[in-house]
Amino acid sequence: MRTQVGIVGAGPAGLMLSHLLHLAGVESIILENRSREYCEARIRAGLIEQWATDMLVETGVGERLTREAMFHDGNYLCFNRALHRIDFRKLVGKGVTIYGQQEVVKDLIARRLADGGQILFEVKGTNVYDFDGKEPKIAFQHDGKTKQIACDFIGGCDGFHGVCRPSMPPGVLTNFTRDYPFGWLGILSESPPPDHELIYAYNERGFALYTMRSPTLARLYIQCAPDEDIDDWPDARIWEELHVRLGGTRKLAEGHIVQKSVTPMRSFVCEPMQFGSLYLAGDAAHIVPPTGAKGMNLALADVRVLSRAIEAFYRKNRTDLLQNYSATCLNRVWKAQRFSWWMTQMLHRYNFENDFEMRRQLAELDYVTSSQAAATSLAENYAGLPME
Ligand code: PHB
Repeated sequence: MRTQVGIVGAGPAGLMLSHLLHLAGVESIILENRSREYCEARIRAGLIEQWATDMLVETGVGERLTREAMFHDGNYLCFNRALHRIDFRKLVGKGVTIYGQQEVVKDLIARRLADGGQILFEVKGTNVYDFDGKEPKIAFQHDGKTKQIACDFIGGCDGFHGVCRPSMPPGVLTNFTRDYPFGWLGILSESPPPDHELIYAYNERGFALYTMRSPTLARLYIQCAPDEDIDDWPDARIWEELHVRLGGTRKLAEGHIVQKSVTPMRSFVCEPMQFGSLYLAGDAAHIVPPTGAKGMNLALADVRVLSRAIEAFYRKNRTDLLQNYSATCLNRVWKAQRFSWWMTQMLHRYNFENDFEMRRQLAELDYVTSSQAAATSLAENYAGLPME
């Protein structure tokens, strides 16, 4: 097999890369080790920055999103038993879209297949090589046969645990990591969220987030230990904690819990994001803690930069955009890292014995919600920094 761009991974990064390349007249093949059903059901955050929503709509994959998503002009910070609204629309003229990541994945898969795109699901033993030479290759097993794709570029869109990043030669990458002493216990509940916009709550007992997938489906998270045993959290304990952490600011309806899981928290960046003709994008190159929901947005930003660079190579024989790929992406990645870390450190309890830390966090929350300059900074980052 031969194609122009071999893509490893059918998450938002790989699928969007393939879609954008197709619109630019460039061929690609996507390899994915999971099944289509698994990719379409995998629950992740559900918040899309303004520019990314615009890109989905403008490139023809926003039809269902336009009908079914929820569009928010602001959110709430909750502390000291009061809600404080941050009005993104008023402060920066932008909003955010609430639409599950797996819905974006479903829409992209449907669109790629309708456009004749090739996605091979349930491949085994994927291996990328020769990407420092003339013709990079991907070997894999599919339908019980060993196969190989020769290509011009490889898109490493296979996530944090994928094969692409570890395939880089030793000494090429520098890793930057920060771990957090907590995780999020998340549930999906068949009940209305407490408000039509998101509530980020700081509480003596720890952080909680009240978000949603629809007006009748709440997505709720509570700060827990990083290695929390989900069996220690019967439904009644989860609801009690959610009520306490909301501080009586809104009524919280309880519903049937349809999903429960623990999300780890990690900040990670590898530099550079490219070697030879292997280009890493999305979680393969960086992880953000979920506070602020930047993960998918960064993945979409990476592949927009990459698709334009590849298009410029084929159309105009330009290599400068390809050479700048890593630096261009990392500029945005580090700003999103800073923002995700900042939201996380402001809203979580680190040391339950240290009241200095708590007073400092409360002062920061009071500052962010009472100073227009500080609120504007939050809004600008949350709704998404400009792409150009
Ligand atoms: C979500 O809806 O799952 C979500 C929203 C905002 C976040 C994190 C997760 O910061």
